[in-house]
Amino acid sequence: MIDVKELNPIVVNCPPSGIRKFFDLARAVEGVISLGVGEPDFPTPWDIREEAIVAIEKAKTFYTPNQGLPELRDEICNYVKRRFDLEYTRENVLVTVGGSEAIDIIFRTLLCDGDEVIVLTPGYVAYEPCIKLARGIPVCVELKEENNFRLMKEDLEKAITPKTKAILMNFPGNPTGGIMRKEDYAEIIPLIKQHGLYVVSDEIYAELTYEGTHTSIAAFDEIKDHVLVINGFSKAYSMTGWRLGYILADKELIALLNKVHQYAIMCAPTISQYAAIAALRRCDEEVVQMKQSFEQRRNFLVNSLNKIGLETHFPEGAFYVFPCIKSTGLTSDEFCERLLKEYKVAVVPGSAFGKEGEGYIRISYAYSIEQIKVAVERIGLFLESLKENN
Ligand SMILES: Cc1ncc(COP(=O)(O)O)c(C=O)c1O
Repeated sequence: MIDVKELNPIVVNCPPSGIRKFFDLARAVEGVISLGVGEPDFPTPWDIREEAIVAIEKAKTFYTPNQGLPELRDEICNYVKRRFDLEYTRENVLVTVGGSEAIDIIFRTLLCDGDEVIVLTPGYVAYEPCIKLARGIPVCVELKEENNFRLMKEDLEKAITPKTKAILMNFPGNPTGGIMRKEDYAEIIPLIKQHGLYVVSDEIYAELTYEGTHTSIAAFDEIKDHVLVINGFSKAYSMTGWRLGYILADKELIALLNKVHQYAIMCAPTISQYAAIAALRRCDEEVVQMKQSFEQRRNFLVNSLNKIGLETHFPEGAFYVFPCIKSTGLTSDEFCERLLKEYKVAVVPGSAFGKEGEGYIRISYAYSIEQIKVAVERIGLFLESLKENN
């Protein structure tokens, strides 16, 4: 018999992800259509898969250097220069097990007991637990729909205290689809510089920016030495199961991060690293095609939701819409549970992304137009039924 009271209270008290909890419920419902998961539905482009096969055939199956294959780190530098005009060299790159490992080791490296980290909410489910597990204190700043889910200077300013060590941002954002443009960042950069904050910028959805091009906060030279960019292959290259991501940062920071990575992980999966070189060298076209397809689905979904009376703002990035359901009088949990039980559609309650997400639902459009169509029809019937019963 295990006595959890004698175990790490941060782990014991950490709630399981609200997304997972919901999908365990959904799995039990027959005929369910899920628009819940944030995972591209395309097969990984063939060139990438082929390169992995070649790596296996040639027995390139041993550990790589802890920091990642030098050729891959060079290709990552070429890629971020080509796509986002960022100047980095291989010493600035650490190859990780997805963006997920990056989030974990960054906070374990940056934080001392009781340091505060500003987190933008609603936000990705792993952020707050990872900060707490690293003995930091998340301080939430709400992203508001009226500001297109961008971070506003006044809101940031109010949250900064003498204990603030870092700010964690995610643009394009999960679950809101919000983006920050150059001029939006320009507003907050002086504040970040003045307080000497580290910026952890999760740019995993950078390639999925529909209006204009992605701006990385690392493009601002005045704070670049304090910026840690997280990116990866899961979303842009449809490589979720390959478990590959990376951190770009000052080389002294990378050396520290590499110590945590080395003792926890050793190195990211070798076969995936070889495959990722092919992704960066040969798959620009596929990335564009997948993005165009997501864009069509976004347009279709937003227009369809607006037609059935669920007012939905146009997200500018990632592959999620985040409509407000407050007019139904239901909480986001009630809305999603009833939609699932009565109309067999699974979406995620906004509250899974922090209490600021209450009153919203997250719908992923990483699904086929056919699936989206059926799901929206069912959501429409659900909304009708709510009106009739009022
Ligand atoms: C905002 C954000 N960051 C990081 C991740 C982690 O992705 P991965 O570990 O597959 O790179 C996800 C996955 O959904 C995400 O939405």
